[in-house]
Amino acid sequence: MKILVTGAAGFIGSHVAQRLLERGDEVVALDNFAPNYSRARKEANLHEYAHQPRCEFVDADICDADYIRALFTVQKFDRVVHLAAMGNVRYSIEHAPEYVDVNIRGTVNLLEAARLSGTRYFVFASTSSVYGKADVVPFVETAPVARPLAPYPATKIADEVLAHAYHVAFDMKCTGLRFFNVYGPRGRPDMMPYEFTRKIAAGETIRVFDEGRPQRDWTYIDDIVSGVLAALDAGFDYELINLGRGQPIELLRFIDIIERLVGRKAIIQHAPLPPTEPAITYANVEKAARLLNYHPQTSIEDGLARFYEWYQRGND
Ligand SMILES: NC(=O)c1ccc[n+]([C@@H]2O[C@H](COP(=O)([O-])OP(=O)(O)OC[C@H]3O[C@@H](n4cnc5c(N)ncnc54)[C@H](O)[C@@H]3O)[C@@H](O)[C@H]2O)c1
Repeated sequence: MKILVTGAAGFIGSHVAQRLLERGDEVVALDNFAPNYSRARKEANLHEYAHQPRCEFVDADICDADYIRALFTVQKFDRVVHLAAMGNVRYSIEHAPEYVDVNIRGTVNLLEAARLSGTRYFVFASTSSVYGKADVVPFVETAPVARPLAPYPATKIADEVLAHAYHVAFDMKCTGLRFFNVYGPRGRPDMMPYEFTRKIAAGETIRVFDEGRPQRDWTYIDDIVSGVLAALDAGFDYELINLGRGQPIELLRFIDIIERLVGRKAIIQHAPLPPTEPAITYANVEKAARLLNYHPQTSIEDGLARFYEWYQRGND
């Protein structure tokens, strides 16, 4: 199969593209090296896989509708895995217009190009943040999601509903995957595993919300990739599916594991939980287990150890 992977120089996209190539698919890897973190890091991600003969890299912006349309016409993709996005919740609070441009308009450009070129299968990244401060845990896909805490999840909710419209109007097969707190090698420098590891190692202060009580459902990258590929293969009519670990970890325990790996105690500055942050993320993964045979394997201890091994190889 010929598969377009957007965001393919990024954290999750580079792992997805690599695993598709490993199993024999043809991959067109698209990314525009957005400045959310360094181009060198994204080039290093590409360096892990993009040299392979069945892979073509395209440096392009999903907001360029004409280019995207032409690309689909020429390439005739069988399926799309759309992972390109502005992804940082906190940054979105003061940059809503950019998030609307990339996450909503960019996604519509891809959906439009797909339906016009006859590419019917579309898997895309959504997020656990769509649940906001959900009252019921673990978060289940049937819960209402109309109360996001920041522009970022608002744009992902928009993607979910737009994909539904394309499914109904054009019979496109669309699956939105709600990723929960993904971590592992090539992890984003703006995310907690990387940021805390770097700061603890450097003896810098880390900011800890609500006395370290918030819980996050950290999910290891290899488990996420397995879920993405299963969704791609399944080609459902329209589904929204949680991909999490189903075992939330308290922030203090998370910090303790990093302290042990780094061999230093964290210097902590306490702060109240901002209104844009939920107290917990916790995935109900029963739907993923049923539909995708998704069974996350990696414990937080093993996953952070593998992350740290990668981090130490000069990735700081
Ligand atoms: N990492 C997580 O924990 C997490 C959780 C929930 C959802 N997600 C979603 O998963 C997807 C991948 O996230 P990630 O953590 O790998 O982030 P990432 O920033 O590492 O990867 C995203 C990639 O998209 C590219 N990109 C951004 N704007 C683009 C544009 N206009 N045109 C082309 N490429 C563009 C960036 O250059 C980047 O390489 C995103 O959709 C994100 O919202 C991630």
